[in-house]
Amino acid sequence: MRGKDYMAVLRAVTEVMGEAIHIVDASGRTILYNEAMAQLEKISVEDALGKPFRKVFSNIPESESTLYQALVNRREIRNKQQTYMNIYGKQITTINTTIPIIVDDRVVAAMEVARDITELKDMSDRIMSLQDSISAKSRKAGGETETGSAQQEQAGEDAQPVPGIRQYHFTDIIGEDPNFLQAVDRAMRATSNTAPVFIYGETGTGKELIAQSIHYGGKRHKKPFLAQNCAAIPESLLEGILFGTEKGGFTGAVDRAGLFEQAHGGTLLLDEISAMPYELQSKLLRVLQEKYIRRVGGSKDILVDVRIIATVNEPPQELIQRGALRPDLYYRLNVIGVDLPPLRERKGDIPILADRFIRKYNEEYGREIWMIAEPALEKLKNYDYPGNVRELENIIMSAVSLAEDEHVLTDRDISIRPTYREGDPAISEFSPEEESLAEYLSRIEQTVIRQYLAGNGGNVTRTARELGMIRQNLQHKLKKYELV
Ligand SMILES: Nc1ncnc2c1ncn2[C@@H]1O[C@H](COP(=O)(O)OP(=O)(O)OP(=O)(O)O)[C@@H](O)[C@H]1O
Ligand SMILES: [Mg+2]
Repeated sequence: MRGKDYMAVLRAVTEVMGEAIHIVDASGRTILYNEAMAQLEKISVEDALGKPFRKVFSNIPESESTLYQALVNRREIRNKQQTYMNIYGKQITTINTTIPIIVDDRVVAAMEVARDITELKDMSDRIMSLQDSISAKSRKAGGETETGSAQQEQAGEDAQPVPGIRQYHFTDIIGEDPNFLQAVDRAMRATSNTAPVFIYGETGTGKELIAQSIHYGGKRHKKPFLAQNCAAIPESLLEGILFGTEKGGFTGAVDRAGLFEQAHGGTLLLDEISAMPYELQSKLLRVLQEKYIRRVGGSKDILVDVRIIATVNEPPQELIQRGALRPDLYYRLNVIGVDLPPLRERKGDIPILADRFIRKYNEEYGREIWMIAEPALEKLKNYDYPGNVRELENIIMSAVSLAEDEHVLTDRDISIRPTYREGDPAISEFSPEEESLAEYLSRIEQTVIRQYLAGNGGNVTRTARELGMIRQNLQHKLKKYELV
């Protein structure tokens, strides 16, 4: 067989298998770049094929390019998560396996295979069946009045609350700050219609509180209120979760209604809408305009009547500029715009919020705190609250729980430590009451080593190279942590 024929066979195999594959030759020129990879990376096959891949992906540094590492350093990387920008500046995350292809001790090519969707599909199925079981529970729980947002009821029927999950109303919303009240007022007016609502507010400013209050304060309050955080779901699954799937849509797909169908007649809260893939945003826009959805892999148009409440936690204009939020979708959603100010811009509300939370946790922990001392209040006012009202609530909660026999909350009861910062998850996981900093760091070190070792099939040399440490050093740590 001629080389050309081999290539044709290879191409056919990769297309049939559906795996996303990228192969470069020894000089770094792309010799195979299939449609599945093109879809994934949003680069057309023609843009990549026959071109030096370092040019096409010029924004990935050598040290981070798995193909480069395979080709030049013979590095084999399995199941590694990679986030990068494609040539249109779009951020992409994939789970890749990259291997050098070695013949007679020469690297003749390097191949990258993006992980297939089987695992993702499993996860999607799990999420869906979880939702099914919550909805079954909520139907069984018929007469109960306590509450629900885990976000699931049955389409068509009147929604029954999911037990154990709090349901918010406007009466739960505390605040007297004029800007805050203005936002609440706009939200209140939204209860008399079904126009889309767009809420902007940092984390913990009360977006969910407002969204639920709108739903439960309006005509749709007996219909489902469902919520989905768009950042919490891998991009490839989101579409199926929102619009449902139909058998044959992709390998193993089942017939399942998505959140739009399930929320029919009610409200769908789409949190962090800017995390939704750009193309999916345009699909959503179409659904809003046409009021029909089509399941993934399906051909039927299904009429849906769903009020959309979307949220973001960064200023919308910045998200638009960054290319994370489609302006056309934003203008369609922003019919009723609600901007929630961060707590640091309405510090005047701290006393009444603190008071409400003290009463709430008095009840919960069986305490009798009647008031809060002035120095304690000062301490609360002097802090900036990156986690906003949620963080204030947590501070009061732990103060009340620790207070035991006291009737006055003093500044000694109030322990403020930055527990939350966006993009800084490690700090929120660290708890000095439970372990020292050294213990915490060594726990992280152990986890990283264990994961990288497993990723390299137990190969110590390769793991050491990947972690940028010398082999002896890694060996020492493996002994220390009893990982061998
Ligand atoms: N104005 C308020 N009055 C009373 N409680 C509030 C207020 N705002 C927020 N809270 C409390 O803070 C918690 C967090 O609020 P919520 O879940 O609505 O925030 P969010 O804006 O949706 O945050 P995230 O972006 O992290 O999802 C709520 O559980 C609620 O108890
Ligand atoms: Mg929220």
